[in-house]
Amino acid sequence: MRVGVLTGGGDCPGLNAVIRAIVRKGVQEYGYDFTGFRDGWRGPLEDATVRLDIPAVRGILPRGGTILGSSRTNPLKQEDGIRRIQENLAAREIEALVAIGGEDTLGVAAQLSDRHGVPCVGVPKTIDNDLSATDYTFGFDTAVGIATEAIDRLHTTAESHMRVLVCEVMGRHAGWIALHSGLAGGANVILIPEQRFDVDQVCAWITSRFKASYAPIVVVAEGAMPKDGDAVLKDESLDSFGHVRLSGVGEWLAKQIEKRTGKEARTTVLGHIQRGGTPSAFDRWLATRFGLHAIDAVREGDFGKMVALRGTDIVRVPIAEATAKLKTVDPKLYEEVGVFFG
Ligand code: F6P
Repeated sequence: MRVGVLTGGGDCPGLNAVIRAIVRKGVQEYGYDFTGFRDGWRGPLEDATVRLDIPAVRGILPRGGTILGSSRTNPLKQEDGIRRIQENLAAREIEALVAIGGEDTLGVAAQLSDRHGVPCVGVPKTIDNDLSATDYTFGFDTAVGIATEAIDRLHTTAESHMRVLVCEVMGRHAGWIALHSGLAGGANVILIPEQRFDVDQVCAWITSRFKASYAPIVVVAEGAMPKDGDAVLKDESLDSFGHVRLSGVGEWLAKQIEKRTGKEARTTVLGHIQRGGTPSAFDRWLATRFGLHAIDAVREGDFGKMVALRGTDIVRVPIAEATAKLKTVDPKLYEEVGVFFG
């Protein structure tokens, strides 16, 4: 049997660990052959492939990024995209496709599998941890670790100058990275996209923190918005690739803080540092288990399914179920950390 593998969407630490586990088990236990597709859905769409065998996956477990490359190409948005994928897979005699990706990549896999007879198995990935149906996605733990270390470092420089330091972390639609790293790093304010924030309230927390002779740290998710946030909202724009670019809420907030509290404020935007580099031990463990279970799903012909973590078990759920709704931060969970604000 020949199996295709692709990685789509934003890259994420642990992608190579998944690929390695799929290939190692697939070749050694089941005698499968593999074809790697380049740059997500662009690969099967344009028949762009990468050699994928045991030598190709040697030594890649601790490496960030993806040996297959990635893109946000969506074949459903191209006129004859589905037909081209079907033809290219048939020409290469590929009988199953493992798609490793987030909401968009897996959304395509669900449609191809459920409506167009392309046998797909999904593996969830995103540093944002906002995919439903799985307790965690790999990449998230690494991103939280990097953000936490950055916040630890910001504390000492903030204290030395008695400044406010705003740390902007990733998370367009969900505040999981902000919540976890902010809590782990002892931030004094955490702002998430799920709940619009009141700038006056943020400034009141900051002022009270200074009164206690501490320099405040504010962790803000890139998708967080102020209640009166038209200025920030209007800056949201699409780049020349059609991707949404957020305006830099961290910079905006630091200016507001300076204006309203009279205290000096600086912003650090962590950006893609959270996505690059070697995966944490937890992410290697999770990614490897996802890979092993994904190739078992192929073996059993259980298509249209995605592997997911529930507690410590790896289960299978319909891909369509996992992509129907984003997993956002529960207001109760956010309220729980509010005790540390100010
Ligand atoms: O992977 C998800 C994510 O990290 C978001 O939090 C972020 O907004 C986005 O990717 C940025 O991706 P890119 O710069 O690749 O478009």
